[in-house]
Amino acid sequence: MTKKLLLSTDQSAKSQKKGITLPKGMVPVLKLAPMPSDANFNGDIFGGWVMSQVDIAGSIPAIEVVSGRLATVAVNSFIFKEPIYVGDLVSFFAKVIKIGNTSVTVEVEVYSQRRLAAPVSESNNHEAVKVTEATLTYVAIDKNGRPRKIEKKV
Ligand SMILES: CC(C)(COP(=O)(O)OP(=O)(O)OC[C@H]1O[C@@H](n2cnc3c(N)ncnc32)[C@H](O)[C@@H]1OP(=O)(O)O)[C@@H](O)C(=O)NCCC(=O)NCCS
Repeated sequence: MTKKLLLSTDQSAKSQKKGITLPKGMVPVLKLAPMPSDANFNGDIFGGWVMSQVDIAGSIPAIEVVSGRLATVAVNSFIFKEPIYVGDLVSFFAKVIKIGNTSVTVEVEVYSQRRLAAPVSESNNHEAVKVTEATLTYVAIDKNGRPRKIEKKV
């Protein structure tokens, strides 16, 4: 884990403003460019859009663990740290942090590269900003929608 990623978890608002790079050595499970239709009435990206994408992003490593059908049982925490703007390129990083009997808990971190389509200028250096962090729990379910034991790989 890079120093910058460690910093990003509890860094102050001041250092967050300075801009950071995307986590090194990690591949995002999802990368999206939100559209004007994803904005709220202030023109920033709607929180519900972000929550939906975070749910999808978190489910990707969870599906690999449960090998089959699953359902989201809980959003344990969800923090909108900074807004996302139309024109940003948004990267979703997800990692499994706990595997239970029937459930998998995943941590999702979201970074936005500012106005990637706009030219680089004094006020726009395409910096990456950590915009959201969340923890979600998914449950492996059977064909009747009931919890199913996860076969743990040794
Ligand atoms: C997911 C669902 C099948 C779980 O059924 P349930 O009877 O509540 O399950 P259980 O109480 O046996 O709990 C199953 C697992 O979920 C975990 N869990 C349940 N509620 C939880 C919560 N609020 N937070 C974190 N984990 C939770 C339990 O700890 C257990 O994990 P473990 O087996 O690894 O120890 C059921 O709640 C459901 O169908 N929910 C609706 C799902 C849905 O529609 N999601 C949105 C769309 S995907």
